[in-house]
Amino acid sequence: MEKEKKVMLSGIQPSGDLHLGNYLGAIRNWAARAEEFECYYFMADMHTLTVHQVPAELRRRTITQLAQYISCGLDPEQNTLFIQSHVPQHAELAWVLNCFTMFGELSRMTQFKDKAAQNADNINGGLFTYPTLMAADILLYQPDFVPVGSDQKQHVELTRDVAQRFNHIYGDVFKIPEPYIPKEGARIMSLSDPTVKMSKSSPEGCVFLQDSPEEITRKFKRAVTDSDTENCVRYAPEEKPGVSNLIVIYSACTGRTHEQIEEEFKGQGYGALKKAVGEAVAETLRPIREQTDRLLKDKGYLEEIYRNGAQRASRTADKTLRKVYKKVGFVPR
Ligand code: TRP
Repeated sequence: MEKEKKVMLSGIQPSGDLHLGNYLGAIRNWAARAEEFECYYFMADMHTLTVHQVPAELRRRTITQLAQYISCGLDPEQNTLFIQSHVPQHAELAWVLNCFTMFGELSRMTQFKDKAAQNADNINGGLFTYPTLMAADILLYQPDFVPVGSDQKQHVELTRDVAQRFNHIYGDVFKIPEPYIPKEGARIMSLSDPTVKMSKSSPEGCVFLQDSPEEITRKFKRAVTDSDTENCVRYAPEEKPGVSNLIVIYSACTGRTHEQIEEEFKGQGYGALKKAVGEAVAETLRPIREQTDRLLKDKGYLEEIYRNGAQRASRTADKTLRKVYKKVGFVPR
């Protein structure tokens, strides 16, 4: 008998354009797993509504994100790629899970506290119950692993707690998933402030996958390097966060080790490093950007991908949802 593949699932909110951190820290690693795992990757469009969105922009970013997933190497045959709002089971299971998640638990989520502070005029119910929708996203597919950034670890832990609570009452309904956090080296920091994660909210320090090579070179030229006097290319994340971040990026794009990179720039200053990293990134992203542009011209193809993806996802998700509905006592339709 063929051994069942382990299942992996993750999503990214189309609340901003995808950037180098998403690619090197997440999507590139996902693409490498398609052989070994059964993989589900989605655009978490429902999650984005927890903060105000411009409808046309959300639509554009959702479709662009799908084209970028494919261009970054996620083969739509081997991976199930879908849009969250196309699979109604997410919203349905989220309701049930809301009833098994405590007010106190949701109040303790650090992301909720941060976002509530940033959006004081819009602390809506969705922002508060965001983690139960995320738990539904995950538990519907019975995954073994959920690759997420360290900022999402708390949500995956809550998902495990809620799943265990549910299983305890109703028997084994949900598989208990493991968070899968990439190593520190895969964490790409902002070019303008290397002590914070690269993020769309500070665009100067953020290289977007759709940026032109000129734009990329310019952003690297302005990258903040460290104000030490040695002007020597050396990997030391605590002491030299800016230079170390550039080394991490250069290493991710060229496959060279930190030692090889230090050797390569021996006797040269930060300027030479910035120039080389900018060029390496521009070359790495060029084929991705070009393929994304090509795919975006073929709306029919993208439609076919997301429709098939939603159908496939829905088949799996519905099995779990039916089980849940039966367990809690809903009359079957
Ligand atoms: N909350 C995640 C983030 O902002 C996105 C997300 C939504 C997700 N649902 C998920 C990630 C399910 C993994 C699994 O990064």
